Amino acid sequence: MTDRYAVIGNPIQQSKSPLIHGMFAQATGQDMEYTLLETPLGGFAGAVDAFRAAAGKGMNVTAPFKLDAFAYATERSERAQLAGAVNALKFEGAQVLAENFDGVGLVRDVTHNLQRQLKGRRVLLLGAGGAARGALLPFLAQQPDRLVICNRSLEKALELAAIAAKQGAAPGQVLGCSYADLDGQTFDVVFNATSASLRGELPPVPATVFANCGLAYELAYGKGLTPFLRLAQNAGVKRLADGVGMLAEQAAEAFAWWRGVRPDTRAVIARLSVALV
Ligand code: ATR
Repeated sequence: MTDRYAVIGNPIQQSKSPLIHGMFAQATGQDMEYTLLETPLGGFAGAVDAFRAAAGKGMNVTAPFKLDAFAYATERSERAQLAGAVNALKFEGAQVLAENFDGVGLVRDVTHNLQRQLKGRRVLLLGAGGAARGALLPFLAQQPDRLVICNRSLEKALELAAIAAKQGAAPGQVLGCSYADLDGQTFDVVFNATSASLRGELPPVPATVFANCGLAYELAYGKGLTPFLRLAQNAGVKRLADGVGMLAEQAAEAFAWWRGVRPDTRAVIARLSVALV
């Protein structure tokens, strides 16, 4: 029987997940279907119950249900717990296993697809919301020389730095700061994990942070040359990236978790890439 998967969210029509998982399934010869599941607010648990009752095997979860999925799960991975949000579920009988693959997908894109190492590097992470939180543990596992988390509301950046310290970061290795503190500092890699680009806004980052920067990475996908990427480009950064690779890699992680086979992401990235102009 064909195994059933879906992405649940509201709205959900814009989701690329059915296309991505359809391409993965075809390339790896997996017998599965993957559909969109739009669910009213407050309807998450009922919709997932029904999907499981109809032999659903797993789901991706997107806004606004990542916290509902966290609550619904019976087992949560360490990274899902740390991110405080869930983007993939696997159903095994009465068990509901929860994962968050956004951060590992991001790191895989940077180290494997873009061939940039974070180990021993000075890394700047802009933002301290859900996206930044998801990246924290996977970034730490790469052992950067320094990870600076910068946020408008300083207390959220400090909170993430405190979590990193609890997770074994060396003293001074992970620091929280505000934008004004970035004056005079430079970084090898800069990530924009704020939601500013979704509204065409620029986080107030000084262009001087890019002086020796080899990669500027916008976690948002499909927005072209965002104000953040334009600033980096004008400051001379040679390599710019948006979140298309992260999107493909987090999907590949979920696919491997569900199906036991890791698909190649190159065809998906080529299909979904939007020119950074
Ligand atoms: P997400 O899940 O996309 O991370 P979020 O949890 O709402 O969304 O977090 C949004 C992040 O973008 C926050 O770090 C927010 O900063 P504050 O915590 O100070 O609000 C940041 N952000 C949003 N718009 C921004 C802007 N114009 N400039 C700088 N940071 C911005």
